[in-house]
Amino acid sequence: MKNEYIPKLARIVSIKEEVDGQRAIKTFRTQFVNKEDFSFKCGQSAMLSVLGKGESMISVSSSPLINDYLQFSILKSGRVTTALHEMEPGDVIGIRGPYGNGFPIEDWKGKNLIFIGGGIGLAPLWSIVQTAITKKEEYKDLLLIYGSRTSKDLVYKEELEELKKKMTIHLSVDNKEPDWKEFVGFVPNNVMDKKPLPENAIAVTCGPPVMIKFVIKALNDLGFKDDQIYTTVENKMKCGIGKCGRCNIGSHYICKNGPVYSWAVLKTLPQEY
Ligand SMILES: Cc1cc2nc3c(=O)[nH]c(=O)nc-3n(C[C@H](O)[C@H](O)[C@H](O)COP(=O)(O)OP(=O)(O)OC[C@H]3O[C@@H](n4cnc5c(N)ncnc54)[C@H](O)[C@@H]3O)c2cc1C
Ligand code: FES
Repeated sequence: MKNEYIPKLARIVSIKEEVDGQRAIKTFRTQFVNKEDFSFKCGQSAMLSVLGKGESMISVSSSPLINDYLQFSILKSGRVTTALHEMEPGDVIGIRGPYGNGFPIEDWKGKNLIFIGGGIGLAPLWSIVQTAITKKEEYKDLLLIYGSRTSKDLVYKEELEELKKKMTIHLSVDNKEPDWKEFVGFVPNNVMDKKPLPENAIAVTCGPPVMIKFVIKALNDLGFKDDQIYTTVENKMKCGIGKCGRCNIGSHYICKNGPVYSWAVLKTLPQEY
């Protein structure tokens, strides 16, 4: 019988240091050791395991259109993520999944897509940004509004510079910096400054809960209806498959019914996220 808890072995093929210091972020590219089926949707996650340390749920940040590798961008925060940060290319980890519902991007064809991220919150958005830019003809305008505490804390810095040639990107940092030429202030303030239009648009926001709360308020103030706004809920998870009850809010298991929600649905659930 298939045991859903058994991870598949995957080798780390590259590690990129995105952010150093206290809130270090690294991007890992992995390939399965054996041929495995891991078809996933943008916004889905995987349980990554390190032998003797445990498991952590991490969003797949690469596009499902890429078959060569699976990418994960990981903030060093505790036992498992610290162990991952100490690994080297060639090391083997466990991966099980994919888990969660993913973004309903098939329903968004022909629309303007607005991505709004903060800090490591760009990781779950990156999969959909990359997919949308590859299939640009299927969508209308693509806009990314992304910010972090300082310019050093921005992830995918070189990729963002490249992406600016293909879509509109507005970056921000929380406080003034000598060479910073873009917006200074919190992400929701940048949203209010750039005033994306709600007509025929979907806005997707990922980041710290406090940022998400004020981004949704900003979007509502700009005229976005609740069903035009999508976000992710990142409650702590254990099994990832709707069995242990670790992640639920109300009757929803975030690992199965989420982590992607429209604000129209999420606002009806208990505020346990
Ligand atoms: C659906 C989903 C997608 C995620 N995607 C990513 C991703 O792409 N990149 C990434 O870096 N992280 C992501 N996370 C968060 C990641 O799972 C946790 O940071 C990680 O499990 C921490 O494990 P640890 O053993 O290193 O730390 P722990 O020792 O378990 O905890 C360290 C600290 O982080 C807190 N913490 C742990 N998990 C969470 C959580 N889910 N939310 C808030 N605080 C938490 C703990 O309370 C503690 O203070 C995601 C979480 C979910 C549920
Ligand atoms: S993590 Fe076990 S039910 Fe969701």
